[in-house]
Amino acid sequence: SENQMWGGRFSQGPAEIMEAINASIDIDKRLWREDIAGSKAHAAMLAEAGIISRADAGAILKGLDQVAGEIEAGTFKFSKALEDIHMNVEARLKEIIGEPAGRLHTARSRNDQVATDFRLWCRSACEDAAAGIGDLMAALADRALDNADAIMPGFTHLQTAQPVTFGHHLLAYVEMFSRDAGRFMDARERMNECPLGSAALAGTPFPINRETTADALGFDRPCANSLDGVSSRDFALEMLSAAAIAATHLSRLAEEIVLWTSPQFGFASLTDAFSTGSSIMPQKRNPDAAELVRAKTGRITGSLNSLLTVMKALPLAYAKDLQEDKAATFEAVDALALALSAMTGMIRDINPNRDAMKEAAARGFSTATDIADWLVRELGLPFRDAHHVTGRIVAVAEQSGKRLDQLALADMQKVEPKITDDIFNVLSVEASAASRKAYGGTAPDNVKREAQRWIAALKKE
Ligand code: ARG
Repeated sequence: SENQMWGGRFSQGPAEIMEAINASIDIDKRLWREDIAGSKAHAAMLAEAGIISRADAGAILKGLDQVAGEIEAGTFKFSKALEDIHMNVEARLKEIIGEPAGRLHTARSRNDQVATDFRLWCRSACEDAAAGIGDLMAALADRALDNADAIMPGFTHLQTAQPVTFGHHLLAYVEMFSRDAGRFMDARERMNECPLGSAALAGTPFPINRETTADALGFDRPCANSLDGVSSRDFALEMLSAAAIAATHLSRLAEEIVLWTSPQFGFASLTDAFSTGSSIMPQKRNPDAAELVRAKTGRITGSLNSLLTVMKALPLAYAKDLQEDKAATFEAVDALALALSAMTGMIRDINPNRDAMKEAAARGFSTATDIADWLVRELGLPFRDAHHVTGRIVAVAEQSGKRLDQLALADMQKVEPKITDDIFNVLSVEASAASRKAYGGTAPDNVKREAQRWIAALKKE
């Protein structure tokens, strides 16, 4: 069989297995919009620079629009024999317009072509990820405002530590996700340089204008080094890093939803819309979506690892290894989008059980630190001594099976005679939370203000 693409040099077609390992069309067909945009910019520039005729450029642009229309309509026949999206588009263009199609690839290689397409794709993927994160942040901030004063136990080591509010807890995630969105936009900013015109690796002798194509495609500038332009994928690695960190944050929140909705915690429930049943245990309400969000992190972090491993020790410039960049990237970007939407849905859906959370917050001597702080403030004890005295009071409570706010004044005075009944003002979980008014603390007034600040900021975007 003759060779469809390199018939000049090759007299035979590829072995079946060669085609199977080499063809990327099933994956990179997703770049068709970017590929056509890149080709249109290139053709227009070639004509402007006098490298091809205006008539040929006109035919190319018109033909590419027709190809785009066919792909959009689903009538385009993708061919494995044509390897990838670039050859598929060009071959169809040739069928449509004939000879001028062969001039499109002047001063260009698939190496700079694919690098350009992929940067364009990643650029919008970064924007979409940041927007998806913004939606999740808005959901979290809304729920934080509703729950600014809902007391829950705060944990360290997953042991009851100090009372916090559910709103404060949700806003912690808003802070994390806002940095995630920032990382995507930082990656977008850094990747926005155009490889087109780097050609195969060394640049081109044709008098092309790289500023023109960079500009037409919305890049800030052309890549300054042709070898770097065709062989670097740190733009994708950076985006995948942002995705892996965001996925890690999602998995922490997902894990907390799993814990909160367990009967043992009972802090919150999801409605039927975000729960699944069991085929054998009729009582079950399982948080499958949260579990899957937690698990998607494996895929996303795995994709980062895949591409890091592909890139490691790859000599300059282009090698076919680079073709593996897309499957990993697409998989991670898709998984993140799904996980973000599912999490946004769950956050809007989740129903906190305020009574259960507050009750849990009062267990575990969670206001012990407030006693120590009172001893420092009212009796002038050094904090270390106050810590010791409080430890003895907690031991008394533990021995008598009481919560701290159920102890009698006399019980406490046995430990420290100077304690007065003013101490009861700091023993409740509400008082504990409300007292943490310093900037960044969990006091409901702070939480309400922060939630409102976020809601307003997210509306402006
Ligand atoms: N499908 C290829 C890729 O994704 C396009 C570049 C091919 N270049 C080459 N020299 N074979 O990387």
